[in-house]
Amino acid sequence: MNVNFADPQVLQDPYPVFDAIREAGSAVYNPSADAWMIASYDDVKSVLFDDQHFVPESDKWETLYGGAVVESLEEPRHGELRSVLAPMFRASYLRDLRPVITELIVSRLDPIATRLRAGEIVDVVPALTRAVAGRILAHIIGVGEDDVPRFLQWAKEMGATLESYDEPDPERASQLRHTGTQATKMTCAFAGRQLAARRDDDSTNDLIAQFVRSPITQSMNENDQRASIAQVIVAGHDNITHTLGHVFAVLALHPEQRALIDADRTLIPAAVEELLRWRTSASGDTRVLRGTANVNGIQLEDGARVMLLLAAANRDPARWSDPDRFDVTRPKQPHLTFGSGVHTCIGAGLGRLEAQVMFEEVLDRLPLFRIAEPIEYGPPLFMRGPKAVKITL
Ligand code: HEM
Repeated sequence: MNVNFADPQVLQDPYPVFDAIREAGSAVYNPSADAWMIASYDDVKSVLFDDQHFVPESDKWETLYGGAVVESLEEPRHGELRSVLAPMFRASYLRDLRPVITELIVSRLDPIATRLRAGEIVDVVPALTRAVAGRILAHIIGVGEDDVPRFLQWAKEMGATLESYDEPDPERASQLRHTGTQATKMTCAFAGRQLAARRDDDSTNDLIAQFVRSPITQSMNENDQRASIAQVIVAGHDNITHTLGHVFAVLALHPEQRALIDADRTLIPAAVEELLRWRTSASGDTRVLRGTANVNGIQLEDGARVMLLLAAANRDPARWSDPDRFDVTRPKQPHLTFGSGVHTCIGAGLGRLEAQVMFEEVLDRLPLFRIAEPIEYGPPLFMRGPKAVKITL
């Protein structure tokens, strides 16, 4: 089945295409991507767990980030490097981060409420969600707030590299790769300067200090150290920005669900899980097969690329009844929004926390709002999200 995931119409609403793929079989070959598409929950999950056979597309990640990173590595190096990142994502660290996130969100929501009351249309992406995601990342990584706009811009441009892998037109794919590579160079150079500065003073408690102190990262080459910082910047900002934008979309588009959550705030964690399932930001992930494997009856050969359609798996009717409905009262069931297996997203707890705080504060501080213009979704598929979320009263 030929599917062009760079097609703006497919990106705008990929769900009918996902359904067609799921119905066509457990693994469906897509000639334009030269990849096997997998769309059912059980099949996606079994591939994610089989990390002996289905390994990361290391070239793709290393081109994107400029060196080896957790996402591109296999055991044992993957586990070692992940242990350096882990302290910044532990529950105790996140608990201390909650007031910082709340303060950041509140300081931007109040002016938005004023603008809405004055009759303005407000795009919450630049006014709130992107800024919050960026500042929290700066806090975790340990860089100054003044650097946030610069690294957010480069991180956004780096997304062009991922977009190039979905692009069937070779000329456009090469242009996208060029834009992405230039931005990767800028981000890695920035990360290198931050690492160098901290080698003289590693007294702070942030990711860069962690990198400078750890014997694991000291044994890595400079390129890979920079790439890991670049990765946290990229992996951390787009998906969170999109998820926070979805908070506004789901509240405005489902007033009856908004009323439920508003009346019973203990529903907020369930609302976050339902939002992550229903509007999965990282819609598609990839692996390469080493050796041969059988995906639920379909035999795949050595070197086959597989596209794991996480957003499709999250709407599998075999797992969720009426899967296209946004319903915060559904029975609790894990989804695949953060992947699964050894490469499960390290920032999942942070993503959940930021979305919970956003729900709470929006319900407290913003009057009933509506979406002012239809939401347009942008590439790449791996980080599909709203380009803008314009709201009005
Ligand atoms: C709602 C927000 C987020 C979503 C939907 C998301 C999604 C994902 C997914 C699907 C993966 C698995 C990739 C794979 O299997 O190849 C992943 C991995 C990863 N994510 Fe996230 N992510 C989010 C937030 C974050 C944040 C905030 C950070 C860091 C600040 C982060 C850092 C990472 C890293 C480092 C990995 C690689 C983990 C590994 O390979 O062991 N993510 N993310």
